[in-house]
Amino acid sequence: MAMKRIFSRAALAGLAVAGLAAVGAVSFLASAPAAGPAFGLAEDVTYAGALWRAMEAARLVGRHEKKLEPFFGGARPHGEFLEIGYQNLEVNGHSGFIVVKKNYSGAGVSEQAVALDRGKYLTDITVMFEREAGYDPDNQNWFWVKYKPGGSLYARDVGGAPVALAGRIAKGGPGEENRGCIYCHASAGGRDYIFYPRVKRP
Ligand code: HEC
Repeated sequence: MAMKRIFSRAALAGLAVAGLAAVGAVSFLASAPAAGPAFGLAEDVTYAGALWRAMEAARLVGRHEKKLEPFFGGARPHGEFLEIGYQNLEVNGHSGFIVVKKNYSGAGVSEQAVALDRGKYLTDITVMFEREAGYDPDNQNWFWVKYKPGGSLYARDVGGAPVALAGRIAKGGPGEENRGCIYCHASAGGRDYIFYPRVKRP
């Protein structure tokens, strides 16, 4: 009788351990990092295209762009002379807050020089767009993009392959995080990832 109880306890304990191990294995699999970077995926590139077209329609970029707020910034890694625009924008039926920053640099850059020949100094357009809930809950669902002046995407070399700068930059991929938009912008005050105090939701 006593033996039997001991056995059954041991058996139960064994089962419990096996159960824990199984649970552990499952949660490990579920939280295992993706093999590559979690940005620059095909869906990110597609989304960046839709976002660009919405920005064009809202005249934030493109041939009919409206005038944005110009000022000198100069913080690395962005440009010296900057223009910033922010508003709500609808993309694929989702309305989110967007911050668009045009970065101008080069010899002789100034407000007047940029006004005379924007294309000469525009190096890139960096954008953060608040996507739908669940897109990236760790980082306030921001979608990050670095566009070339015409709307195509900059890429970064990850392990010898170019990865488009669009999406959750730079989640995943060893050693990439601390050079990415998320890492740096996480240090902006107010936990909204936005540095400039003037940038406020409408
Ligand atoms: C090394 C730090 C750093 C990295 C990396 C970085 N940023 Fe920034 N970003 C800043 C700082 C500082 C500012 C405010 C000063 C400025 O613009 O010069 C800023 C401003 C911005 C703004 C204007 C809104 C705001 O936060 O005030 C946007 C939009 C933006 N960055 C997008 C991006 C995108 C997209 C990436 C990645 C492709 C990126 N940034 C990477 C530091 C960084």
